[in-house]
Amino acid sequence: MGKKTDKTPRGLKEEMRDYREKLLEVSRKASRCGRSLKQREGEVRDLQKTLTKLVTLTELSRILNSTLEPGTVRRRAMQAATELMEAEVGSLLLIDEETNQLYFEVALGDKEEAVKTFQLKMGEGIAGWVAQHGEPLIVRDVQSDPRFFRDVDKKSKFTTKNVICVPIKVKEKTVGVLEAINKLDGGAFSEEDLSLFESLADQVAVALDNARLLAEIEELFFQTAMSLADAIEKRDPYTGGHTKRVTTYSLAIAEQIDMDPNEVRWLKFAAILHDIGKIGVEDQILRKPDKLNEEEYDQMKQHTLMGAEIIGHIKQLHSIIPGLKYHHEKVDGKGYPEGLADGYIPLIAKIVAVADTFDAMTSDRPYRKALLKEEAFDELRRSCGTQFDKVLVDAFIKAFETGKT
Ligand SMILES: [Fe+2]
Repeated sequence: MGKKTDKTPRGLKEEMRDYREKLLEVSRKASRCGRSLKQREGEVRDLQKTLTKLVTLTELSRILNSTLEPGTVRRRAMQAATELMEAEVGSLLLIDEETNQLYFEVALGDKEEAVKTFQLKMGEGIAGWVAQHGEPLIVRDVQSDPRFFRDVDKKSKFTTKNVICVPIKVKEKTVGVLEAINKLDGGAFSEEDLSLFESLADQVAVALDNARLLAEIEELFFQTAMSLADAIEKRDPYTGGHTKRVTTYSLAIAEQIDMDPNEVRWLKFAAILHDIGKIGVEDQILRKPDKLNEEEYDQMKQHTLMGAEIIGHIKQLHSIIPGLKYHHEKVDGKGYPEGLADGYIPLIAKIVAVADTFDAMTSDRPYRKALLKEEAFDELRRSCGTQFDKVLVDAFIKAFETGKT
């Protein structure tokens, strides 16, 4: 049953008032809904922004941890800081434990050259404060902050307006500081930025520590390989320092030809261990002061195969075996142990061959005096196309002429 309508003027007036109030109520609700919708849109936008930043953080962390080369890790850390914080410039400052100073390891942007040479004392400047206290910091107006250290700006002719700075900690110990300078949109760094930046700093810490550990393991291995090579050299009184020189010369050639850094690592170890197989050559042959007869020479030749066999037991070093096995091959196919022709001789073996022969020629032997460097260069040039690869000989001589050996 509907409400009975009062048709009197008074009743109609009340009905009109009711109606007006209902309309007002609907309008109020509509307005509230409008506001809420706007709020929601804002919230969704914020969420999308956060999500985008999280995706960026994940991607940057992946890129950061996809290398173990310390220099690359540091550079990528900087790029990540600049990109994630949407900043003008970013810096990575690492603590030098010996001097207890912070040095700008990398700083991107056109001020890079000026900034990266700068050093800060612990506690000096905003980055120094963060390093000393191990706490993050947002400074919205750097110029009026008493911690701000103006010398860096002066030296780099850069104007720092605002800064976000977080410590990089490895096992609770602060090892450096990650810094982003000048928010690009002219705004300020937020608490949300800070939390993202701290996550990035954690990733940077892991990547830096992994790179450091690998470098330490490699250094340990390098020293071990050098000791092994030295032990073999000690049996042969005429080869003092040979391994070190062959390694230096080989790396100089690699630099000249822009060799891939991964290949360079293998080349280095191949150069150090190239004659490791001599451990299996009898003393009377190895230490013989006169020229070897044919039979002795045949035995000596075996050192290439023995070296390959010895290193063959170490799975992680299989990439250096070609350097050990083929460093006495000649490009005309008249070398040993297999008589490989040019296109079949691995690059690292061809490099070691040039370095090894040059050092042998310029060292005294019991049966002949050492050649002068220029004489040895001429000898190398004459043997291009028969014994050596011309590109590598040219690279070696160029390295010498430009003082890179
Ligand atoms: Fe050799």
